[in-house]
Amino acid sequence: MQRQVFRPAPHIENVRYAIRNIAVEAARVEAEGKRVLYCNIGDPLRFDFATPPHLVEAVERAMRDGKNGYAPSAGLLAARTAVANDAVKRGMSQVTPGDVFITAGVSEAIDLVLTATLEPGDEVLLPCPGYPLYDAIAARLHAKAVAYHPDEANGWQPDARELESRITSKTRALVICNPNNPTGATYSSQTLAALLDVARRHQLLVLADEIYDRLLYGGTHVPMGTLAEGVALVMLNGLSKAYLCPGWRVGWLAFVNPNLTRDLARAVQRLADARLCGPAPVQHAVEPALFGSQAHIAAAMAKLLPRRDLMVKRLNAIRGVSVVAPSGAFYAMPRLELPGLQSDEQFVLKLLREEQVLFVHGEGFGQKPGTHHFRVVFLPPLEVLDEAFARFERFVARWAP
Ligand SMILES: Cc1ncc(COP(=O)(O)O)c(C=O)c1O
Repeated sequence: MQRQVFRPAPHIENVRYAIRNIAVEAARVEAEGKRVLYCNIGDPLRFDFATPPHLVEAVERAMRDGKNGYAPSAGLLAARTAVANDAVKRGMSQVTPGDVFITAGVSEAIDLVLTATLEPGDEVLLPCPGYPLYDAIAARLHAKAVAYHPDEANGWQPDARELESRITSKTRALVICNPNNPTGATYSSQTLAALLDVARRHQLLVLADEIYDRLLYGGTHVPMGTLAEGVALVMLNGLSKAYLCPGWRVGWLAFVNPNLTRDLARAVQRLADARLCGPAPVQHAVEPALFGSQAHIAAAMAKLLPRRDLMVKRLNAIRGVSVVAPSGAFYAMPRLELPGLQSDEQFVLKLLREEQVLFVHGEGFGQKPGTHHFRVVFLPPLEVLDEAFARFERFVARWAP
């Protein structure tokens, strides 16, 4: 065999994304001819949800009309205008199309903002548990991800004092994800105001990840940008979740108090120029998404509500398992308190091999040391969830480490 002579950069070892890594194991199980019940990935299109036809038509029309060239690097003006108008409509009156960048999903928006913000050794405050892309990008930038811990005993609510205690002279940015992935928690305006007050006093850039803002089980969403006077805040959102087209890769970032972030916006523009543009024809869906019919969202929530309720009921009935009911998104982060449990990754892999149910281990999102969790995605139809929880219950009943 030929000896391998080329080695990748060692720091890439720190770039991890559990949600997709674990799926590799599931593919192995499927190769053995066993059907896996997938409760691991937040893609509604894998289940009984479909992209709204008016969005498909908008993109199809754009492609047929020959709108298949590069877009400006900050995005098509019509899409940027729609995002700005939507922000103004929701109370963020300062946002103009010039403050908006259309990106390849929120993922690229996060990448652009963090890359433009963090130097090696800088610190960024991330919720723990939280969405692992933030950690992965911080690792790539040689920046330090510092965890703050929303309190599970208090419905996974963040505490401004705990957050503030994590700040050092190197802290540059704070990520707040509302609703949160993986806990499904949503935060009140008082909680958000307290977190933003910390950011204001310490002059941190806030990344307000609101990709699940329209997916709520009651209540109304308070955009962080409406509470952010005097805070350097960038709002992140996109079409992947509420508009049911994650494969299109349409997201955006908007500087909500542009006067406080002029230089940062210029830095983002440089990075955006260097990568040319986000996918262009799909940007024609932004205006019809934000200003066209929203009926599909109510229909999706009507499907998701009983799925959430089933998940909460079934899991809380199992001894050694407890879950805080999520109030937004389609995730929850149940806790495992089982004798001898050392690693929730091993637990999740054993469950996959023995019962062919796939969750993501809590370690993949971060968790308080000494605790064990897993993330459940409750997008599958009721009968699939029912079967998955029956298998899970059986597995826990015979649990031995
Ligand atoms: C909290 C959060 N932010 C960002 C993303 C990335 O979304 P996109 O598909 O827009 O890149 C996700 C995807 O699951 C997410 O859960």
